[in-house]
Amino acid sequence: MLYITGDTHNTQDKDNLSKENMELCCLEQKAAYSTISAAIVLGDFGLPWHECFIGRDGIHPSERSDRHLLEWYNKKPFKILALMGNHDNYDMLGKLPQVEMFGQTVLQVSSNIFYLIRGNIYQIEGQSFLVLGGASSGIAAHPRPHENRWTKEVWSAEEEAACLAKIGQHGRKFDYVLSHTGPSAGIMTLYQALATAPGPNELLKDPNVVFNNKIDNLITYKKWFFGHWHSDFGYKNLSSAKYIPLYHEGVLL
Ligand SMILES: [Fe+2]
Repeated sequence: MLYITGDTHNTQDKDNLSKENMELCCLEQKAAYSTISAAIVLGDFGLPWHECFIGRDGIHPSERSDRHLLEWYNKKPFKILALMGNHDNYDMLGKLPQVEMFGQTVLQVSSNIFYLIRGNIYQIEGQSFLVLGGASSGIAAHPRPHENRWTKEVWSAEEEAACLAKIGQHGRKFDYVLSHTGPSAGIMTLYQALATAPGPNELLKDPNVVFNNKIDNLITYKKWFFGHWHSDFGYKNLSSAKYIPLYHEGVLL
């Protein structure tokens, strides 16, 4: 069984993947924690965050929080599959070893932690997942390149073209879409839940949202899960909603 949850931000929200939180989410969805084979984090996983040695087996952090977090995650009885968000160190991601998994390439952090590469289509437990990712941090709030903002958080034109080509080869039908920020229609579910509305074209300032909108108009799928907005729409709406924003809650598939 797969468990999908929102941003963990290195140690800040690691309890998204604590046994206690996951068991509670499992209980409410009438599933057993022991059946979880992989937990998917919808971006802003944030490990590795600091520079460290990277070998063929993944990262070897010397910085304290990265080191302890890695040890904590490596004891989990399931794989951890992270999407690329905006609070992810893209300089380090670019150095991670590539391995084959789920019919595609993934980036290896450790023996049980991997980044799913945005733009790829993965077959996981018999279901097809279109994996997107990225979000714009905004220069005003995150002014320091390579410290709290990475230009690669926004897709390049080449990445977008490669993703569209893969969709063309696969066919436009998927079981699920995973992304960091959402498409506009998904983000609007959060605004509607809060009884507020974004300003005119507010959502279109992020090129990642614009690309997600393009994908949303191109394909069919059952559900679109996304993080970034730090709000739980969650499993209570799973059966009725098409777009599922997640933060601390986990949804079981
Ligand atoms: Fe985040």
